Amino acid sequence: MRMYDLIMKKRNGEALNHQEIQYLVEEYVAGNIPDYQMSAFLMAVYFQGMTEEETLAMTLAVAHSGDMVDLSGIEGTKVDKHSTGGVGDKTTLIIAPIVAACGAKVAKMSGRGLGHTGGTVDKLESIPGLRTTLTREEFFEVVNKTGVSVIGQSGNLAPADKKLYALRDVTATVDSIPLIAVSIMSKKLAAGNDCILLDVKTGSGAFMKTLEDSVALAKEMVSIGENAGKRTVALITNMDIPLGHNIGNSLEVIEAVETLKGNGPQDLTVVCMHLASNMLYLAGKGTLDECKSMVKEVIANGKALEHLAAMVRAQGGDDAVIWDTQKFAKAPYSYEVCAKESGYITFMDTESCGIASAMLGAGRETKDSGIDFAAGIIIHKKVGDYVEKGESLATMYASREELFEAAAKRYLSAVTQKSIRAEEEKLVYARVTKEQVEYF
Ligand code: URA
Repeated sequence: MRMYDLIMKKRNGEALNHQEIQYLVEEYVAGNIPDYQMSAFLMAVYFQGMTEEETLAMTLAVAHSGDMVDLSGIEGTKVDKHSTGGVGDKTTLIIAPIVAACGAKVAKMSGRGLGHTGGTVDKLESIPGLRTTLTREEFFEVVNKTGVSVIGQSGNLAPADKKLYALRDVTATVDSIPLIAVSIMSKKLAAGNDCILLDVKTGSGAFMKTLEDSVALAKEMVSIGENAGKRTVALITNMDIPLGHNIGNSLEVIEAVETLKGNGPQDLTVVCMHLASNMLYLAGKGTLDECKSMVKEVIANGKALEHLAAMVRAQGGDDAVIWDTQKFAKAPYSYEVCAKESGYITFMDTESCGIASAMLGAGRETKDSGIDFAAGIIIHKKVGDYVEKGESLATMYASREELFEAAAKRYLSAVTQKSIRAEEEKLVYARVTKEQVEYF
């Protein structure tokens, strides 16, 4: 087999077979295919797309390039969730303990934040003492004991994806729907869960800016998951506005705890209700309506919050901050971002809100930069709210006062005000299964 022939075949719009795809992934990881040939292939995929068979073959080849996690040491049905990333997205901290409290198992590997989006691992590490690096045995023990564990990505998971992603990043081939689907699903398949719920974010703070692209990506990923033998569903959720009110690591844990107590903001609560009930549905716990009732019950009776505290303790963390969130370390400085004019907020550029929070120290510029767990933003006014000139839109928190000016400028530039109220947007746009796309 020659890479040259495979590039030409894809360039001409023909489909590659399973062996050809396996060959190019394996040989690329082994260093026998140079970056310039793989770049040409990726660009051909960018323009020609891939068939369902090709995306499945490539996902399996990328997944099998490293460790395939075996979760059989954990009893029960293991259900995973993946979010394509957003601002204020603390849903894992809420739905993982909810799902565990309802009897399914969550053995989840999460990522760190980068750029304008946050990461669950950083949020968890804002809890004093909590470890997100566990041995395999510790990870299994925590899940078997508490029903839930969330750790950082460990081991050699889909190394082909790391190499391909780095190449896509510098060859303008990141925003190819089949390549994104392969990249995400290879890691999900390698992580070894029985079923997968995908939260595909759409809007100004999301990777996919339009509903059409989000549905196309969701369909590709659901088809890969199902063809690989995993029950897979995707929800398309709104990321045209930050989720909830808090952005920043410990601030988001605090909001997650409030939501688990039943006192969370309405948007976050509704999205979590959808996500958690779909995870339970995938795990075979009942119809969607039955699963929704179970979710409501474990919030009302406190069981979901108990599961979060139990996971925190089992991972070495101090659960005192869960029971009393006032105990979280506080940022030494705060700053009110005030409206320059009166009017309704009609739009919030969500990516810019995330960048403003990162500028305060809550996010990192590069993979190696440090993070300030207490930094971030509490939003007081969101799309649909009327604001008087001089009224506070948000409070910013940081450990250095000089960070406020630029971050506040960025935040203000993200907020559009008009004299007429904007129409309310949906929180969940669609549910994608292997059979259908159901629009809400
Ligand atoms: N997230 C991933 O893991 N891969 C992509 O290609 C895009 C987003």
